[in-house]
Amino acid sequence: MRKANDFYPTESAVTKQLLKRVSIAGTVLEPCAGNGAIASVIDKHEGIDVVYTNDINPAWICHCHADATKPEIWRGWQEANQCDWVVTNPPFNQAALILPLAYEAATVGVAFLLRLSYLEPAGNRGEWLRSHKTKLTNLIILGQPRPSFTGNGKTDSCTVAWMVWRKEARTDTIIDFVTDWKQ
Ligand SMILES: C[S@@+](CC[C@H](N)C(=O)[O-])C[C@H]1O[C@@H](n2cnc3c(N)ncnc32)[C@H](O)[C@@H]1O
Repeated sequence: MRKANDFYPTESAVTKQLLKRVSIAGTVLEPCAGNGAIASVIDKHEGIDVVYTNDINPAWICHCHADATKPEIWRGWQEANQCDWVVTNPPFNQAALILPLAYEAATVGVAFLLRLSYLEPAGNRGEWLRSHKTKLTNLIILGQPRPSFTGNGKTDSCTVAWMVWRKEARTDTIIDFVTDWKQ
């Protein structure tokens, strides 16, 4: 059984692997922040001006408690602040709704921690993946060990990767196969 609201926090070493490889800077929005496991790591990173947090669950301490699957919420955020980056590990079952909205709102790009199987062109995302293939600039694939989000070391049938899409297109996607991510 999945946890309520799909709350699976990301250990800090996973976020550090993203920051090592992609220059995240300026204003960052974490739209599904939970207890701030990703946001707190980004907040300490050089070049970050501010990290805004949101989570649908009012139990978490965040700047905002809104449903990140709703376009009008993103319009409001865009009007309030320019957001350079959106970085999150979203609820997997809502990722296909949240990712396109985040990409439209960000001025530089988005970094989403997703199961590798997200790249399967399924009905709810195939068209978006295809039309944004030149914007997929980084795939940071983590393994050995496969990151666990359960608190008891159990893992999914598929590993996760940071998937970065930027507004500025590139001709190639940089792929990193990372096995020493806990160090
Ligand atoms: C997989 S957890 C990850 C939490 C945090 N991003 C991290 O990596 O530690 C997903 C989070 O999304 C939140 N969430 C679920 N549905 C949401 C929605 N529609 N809008 C905003 N947040 C949502 C959950 O409450 C949960 O905290």
